[in-house]
Amino acid sequence: MAATPGITSQPWGKMPDGRPVQLFTLANARGMRVAITNYGGIVQSIVVPDRHGKPGDVVLGYNSLAGYLGDTATYFGALIGRYANRIAFGRFTLDGRVYRLAINNGKNSLHGGIYGFNRRLWTARARTTPAGPALELRYTSQDGEEGYPGELAVRVVYTLTANDGLRIVYTATTDKDTVLNLTNHTYFNLDGEGHGSILPTVMTIYAHHYTPINANLIPTGKIAPVEGTPLDFLRPTPVGARIRDNFAQLKYAGGYDFNYVLDSQSGRLALAATAVDPRSGRRLRVYTTQPGIQFYTGNFLNSKIRGKHGHVYNFRDGFTLETQHYPDSPNHPNFPTTELKPGQTFRQTTVYAFGTVR
Ligand code: BGC
Repeated sequence: MAATPGITSQPWGKMPDGRPVQLFTLANARGMRVAITNYGGIVQSIVVPDRHGKPGDVVLGYNSLAGYLGDTATYFGALIGRYANRIAFGRFTLDGRVYRLAINNGKNSLHGGIYGFNRRLWTARARTTPAGPALELRYTSQDGEEGYPGELAVRVVYTLTANDGLRIVYTATTDKDTVLNLTNHTYFNLDGEGHGSILPTVMTIYAHHYTPINANLIPTGKIAPVEGTPLDFLRPTPVGARIRDNFAQLKYAGGYDFNYVLDSQSGRLALAATAVDPRSGRRLRVYTTQPGIQFYTGNFLNSKIRGKHGHVYNFRDGFTLETQHYPDSPNHPNFPTTELKPGQTFRQTTVYAFGTVR
């Protein structure tokens, strides 16, 4: 699958207010291709070979911008901010002041509120770097946007590396004390999007602990061991092996939808999870500097979703591995802090690295 490495762009429709949207395609010499739009910074497709060298698109999503504009529930492929996952009752206190956020998930605020970063048009710049073709995206979030304090300047750089890694570097600065938790919400199906259930995928998550949730999927504040529970993925285990176990946490979430407390808490890039699809032989390794990862098995997907090429995405037809700080951290002082202050630079790196097994 030899190809010319580089980055190209094409017009990809218009925002409801008329601003033009683009789709960028990054390619490396091995034939891996990643398409990313500056609408929501969405990873629209990732094409990688299976064990026989046959290319396939391993991310769920839509063929056109209209699909993404019309979907405010799945967050397919999108950049998430200002705060990944839930903030209970959309409320937190910072420097003695109570902030109220846009509520969009029951009584809570999910993935940044109603108009999160996933629904914003980012300023894009295509770059050629020594590490590979790169797409730099910038967005300035206004002071008070969705209820969050401070004007926040965010920069996300996606780089496709020569060895089949999609590297995402997030940086941000603020002009007032604020909270921040950025991630990417790509749903993977390593056999290929539209190929059905991800339950056969063999998952390893390098985490001895997780943050238990209540029935509203809000962290209780505890940090609990995975040992002896169906949440233990320290050894490679098929996703479906225990997903129907009679375990209260699984019932609350309708499957896996948990923040794992990664064993590596050093802030240096470390292996967080490995997923292997036994059918195609594709392997995904996730490396991150972040302290947590949300493993979500698409429990809220339903057959009403018509994705790429008319494919219907059902319950559990994709999984996410969202590198992050812990959900609802602003309300849990015992969790690693998500505060960002003027003069500081937020910086996190995540790599989705692809390969195959025999
Ligand atoms: C959350 C799920 C949520 C989903 C939305 C995930 O990151 O953990 O609870 O329903 O995003 O698509």
